[in-house]
Amino acid sequence: MRLRDVEPGDVGAYVRMRCDPVMMAELGGPLPREGMAAKVARDVRQAAADTAWIKMIIPDGSVPGVVAGSVVLWSHEDSGTAMSEIGWMVLPEFQGRGIAKTAVSMLLELAGQQDRWGLVHAFPAITNAASNAVCRSAGFRFAGEQQTSFAGRIFRTNHWVINPATDLTTPNSRSDAPGH
Ligand SMILES: CC(C)(COP(=O)(O)OP(=O)(O)OC[C@H]1O[C@@H](n2cnc3c(N)ncnc32)[C@H](O)[C@@H]1OP(=O)(O)O)[C@@H](O)C(=O)NCCC(=O)NCCS
Repeated sequence: MRLRDVEPGDVGAYVRMRCDPVMMAELGGPLPREGMAAKVARDVRQAAADTAWIKMIIPDGSVPGVVAGSVVLWSHEDSGTAMSEIGWMVLPEFQGRGIAKTAVSMLLELAGQQDRWGLVHAFPAITNAASNAVCRSAGFRFAGEQQTSFAGRIFRTNHWVINPATDLTTPNSRSDAPGH
């Protein structure tokens, strides 16, 4: 598996991830198709400027055109303090193979090698069993429940925190690790 920056050609993958009722069931429902080209363009600019890490998951490096999902690390203000947050999505045909866990661990491993991100937070909906399992299994610590907004919608979420420099559970992010 490898991660690469989002590209202008990723609109189709964004539509499949963000405009699909099943993919968005735990994120407030599907977003309108019309906004996706602009969203990709904004994300490409942010990735190029290195203001956020917006990565597409390529499950098989020998087939670079096949995208399994995305994993994103960004920083935003929370009550006047910078907070790093990570989020992820894996398309249905790739789910249940450890791809989210591996991709999240890969990005966090990179984050832990830099002095830039500090603690990384994640806010899956309390009902999102798969995402909460990703957090647990990657080494995040549970920090309580809170209301969170995503794409203008408010959710009841679990709050998970990890120090990527010290807390990653296993070095499973290496692409040559067994089973990947
Ligand atoms: C959440 C999501 C990214 C999981 O992707 P995935 O690649 O299938 O997850 P993995 O195969 O890496 O599984 C990670 C863990 O979740 C568990 N898991 C996977 N699917 C699960 C499910 N439906 N219910 C409960 N646990 C589940 C796995 O057993 C694994 O736990 P383990 O490491 O303890 O064995 C994917 O289902 C998805 O994109 N859903 C829609 C979008 C979304 O909800 N994004 C997250 C917003 S916070």
